[in-house]
Amino acid sequence: MRLDNRVALVTGAAMGIGAAVAECFLEAGARVVLFDIDAQALSLRESALQDRGELLAIAGDVASEADVESAVARTLETFGSLDLLVNNAGIDLAGKAPDFSSSDWDRLMDVNLKGAYLFSRYSIPHLAARAGAIVNISSVHAIVSYESCPAYDAAKAGMLALTRTLALDHGPQGVRVNAICPGYVDTPMTQKWLDSVPDRAATLEQVRAVHPLRRMATPRDIAEAALFLASSRASFITGATLVVDGGLTIYGR
Ligand SMILES: NC(=O)c1ccc[n+]([C@@H]2O[C@H](COP(=O)([O-])OP(=O)(O)OC[C@H]3O[C@@H](n4cnc5c(N)ncnc54)[C@H](O)[C@@H]3O)[C@@H](O)[C@H]2O)c1
Repeated sequence: MRLDNRVALVTGAAMGIGAAVAECFLEAGARVVLFDIDAQALSLRESALQDRGELLAIAGDVASEADVESAVARTLETFGSLDLLVNNAGIDLAGKAPDFSSSDWDRLMDVNLKGAYLFSRYSIPHLAARAGAIVNISSVHAIVSYESCPAYDAAKAGMLALTRTLALDHGPQGVRVNAICPGYVDTPMTQKWLDSVPDRAATLEQVRAVHPLRRMATPRDIAEAALFLASSRASFITGATLVVDGGLTIYGR
């Protein structure tokens, strides 16, 4: 699954799943743009990946139309094309609806859903010229519901609908659009949540137990699925949702 002569832009690439996708795509021969709101973490990731291939780091917010438009323009100036987009940046804010502020709702939707729309809006005209592909990182939260996550679950389900409609609209131009639904993944986001629970060891054991494969995913497990969907090996796959959850949703809990 090679990505030679392909230019990929990965959002939320400073850490976690996005960093693994960037690394995996570089190893497959792509030139990669790492986009992230955390300039310090981005700079550290840029240094760590520098000897893996050609890359460009751009600091910005996926929810800012100006940042997105300028990131796509800089990608074209630097590399001459844009072939692959991975909409990965996301945040998790929890709370039952009465305790969940409308400003938190707006921020979560802006980052987790509008960001994917904005990057798609500015990228698709360039992807269309290059038989490009979009991979959206959704979640099992789009399929099964979890307590106290109304905004996160709605945004992730919205991302699957966005995936299908973009696939419908831009298939005729040769653009493929697919989504991945990971279960638990060992990333800074998950570690932050584990730090907040009363009994970390017991929670980790529960997390292990809900997966038939008896472990949570590594970021690389998700990146390999993204590589497949971005590559020509997935040339007839569009509008699809690939669940990469170690069997978590078989149990449905
Ligand atoms: N960790 C999991 O268990 C899990 C499971 C399913 C889906 N996901 C999804 O996968 C994606 C990546 O998750 P992760 O666990 O790697 O998260 P993470 O918090 O470990 O990393 C997310 C990265 O996105 C960046 N980011 C956040 N807001 C941004 C913004 N507004 N603009 C640009 N960059 C921004 C962060 O700075 C960070 O580098 C998210 O969309 C998340 O919802 C995660």
